[in-house]
Amino acid sequence: MKRPGIHIRLLAAAILLIGATTLSLGYAGTLMIHEFVKTRFEERISFLARYLALNAELGILIDEKEMLKRLSQNLLSEKDVIGVSIFGTAAEPLAEVIKPFSGVLSVIESPVILKESQDESRAFQWNPPSSVIGKVKIMYTTEGLVILLDTMKRRFVWLSGIAGLFSVLIFYFISRSLVAPITELVQTSRKVAAGNLQLRADLGVLPETRELAAAFNAMLDSLENSRKALEKANLTVIRQTTLAELGKFSLMIAHEVKNPLGIIKSSMDMLKKDIAPGDMMVEFIEDEIRRLNRLIEDFLLFARPANPTFRPVNLHEMLKHCAERFELQTADIPVIIDTDIPEDNYEGQADPDLLVRAIGNIIKNAMESGGEDENMIRIRAFFDKDFWIAEITDQGPGIDPELMDKIFEPFFTTRSKGTGLGLAFAFQVIKAHGGMITAQNSPEGGAVFQIKIPKNDA
Ligand SMILES: Nc1ncnc2c1ncn2[C@@H]1O[C@H](COP(=O)(O)OP(=O)(O)O)[C@@H](O)[C@H]1O
Ligand SMILES: [Mg+2]
Repeated sequence: MKRPGIHIRLLAAAILLIGATTLSLGYAGTLMIHEFVKTRFEERISFLARYLALNAELGILIDEKEMLKRLSQNLLSEKDVIGVSIFGTAAEPLAEVIKPFSGVLSVIESPVILKESQDESRAFQWNPPSSVIGKVKIMYTTEGLVILLDTMKRRFVWLSGIAGLFSVLIFYFISRSLVAPITELVQTSRKVAAGNLQLRADLGVLPETRELAAAFNAMLDSLENSRKALEKANLTVIRQTTLAELGKFSLMIAHEVKNPLGIIKSSMDMLKKDIAPGDMMVEFIEDEIRRLNRLIEDFLLFARPANPTFRPVNLHEMLKHCAERFELQTADIPVIIDTDIPEDNYEGQADPDLLVRAIGNIIKNAMESGGEDENMIRIRAFFDKDFWIAEITDQGPGIDPELMDKIFEPFFTTRSKGTGLGLAFAFQVIKAHGGMITAQNSPEGGAVFQIKIPKNDA
């Protein structure tokens, strides 16, 4: 069974309290009014009896029945009075008038007392005993009183009922406004639990519930953050696993393709002997074979687990060799390689084969980015704090800032003949050397790549 909520409980308590108060106050009130009205009624009737007795004194003394009858008749016109009798000392009434009436009657009697003259009493300093010379009897009905009391009681009940209802109504609205923020919080938490994670509770106006809602929202925020972090971590794990699987698979394919490609190349060389030199088709096929070969080589280089074997290497000399190799290689393209490498030897721990390839990839990119008629590449080496730094700057268009994060990812390329593996390989190699590689754009617009390798005494 569902337990009653705060609102219902508050309301029930209020109804009980207000009801009990109204009832007891109402009851006490009716009792008091009842007593008051009854006393007043009885006082009035007994006053009438005393008044009659006083006025009847003379009539009884001189036995004037007509006068007594008139007196009685007069009294009969009073409300609630039904009958009046005046008695002398005899049992028979001297005067008696009765209105027709059916119902219960009450009777009140008052003695008629003969009083001495006040002057005489004073003169003799003596108070003679008063003597009873008769009595008056008034019969009256209490029906009027009962009806009056009933009407009053009913009015009282109505009034207290309405007042009670009014209080309950006022309380209902007050308690509702108190409970509303909590109810809303509960609803919000239900919606959140149902999956609407972006929902936040309304703060409302009451300080206590405001605090509660704020705490609830803070909790939701931190939950949301943890959830996002977890999702990200999950995605990374999935991506890494997929990449690793893909890597293994691609390595296998590359190996499988390498051999047939070699066979195709040597077969092509043999076929070429029977074909006139300069044939477009032959050049086309040879071009494609070269491209495929490069892709496979780049890939194998990148994907093969890099197991660097470190030994002391004169890094300045190595960098100069790289520059010279490219200057020779690009005899037909107008490229100027401007080097700024210290003359002295600097021996660092490195795997020269891997490092030369990595730096070569960066220089190759710089050459590919240059303009067609003139391309100047600057290669610089210097020390900064704990690092030996090799810097390669070109005068090309630079790197699109939006792509800056992506260029080191494997297979990311913007070039039609690119493999997207050059920088990924360089990144891997420099990382294996305990260093880092960064890219940025120079103020003149070209790209600046920095290879940082920790100094061996650092
Ligand atoms: N010197 C450079 N200037 C401008 N963009 C460059 C430069 N070097 C690399 N990039 C960008 O980085 C991408 C990735 O380079 P890389 O890994 O060597 O692959 P690829 O040369 O095969 O495209 C390039 O396609 C190019 O968009
Ligand atoms: Mg490249």
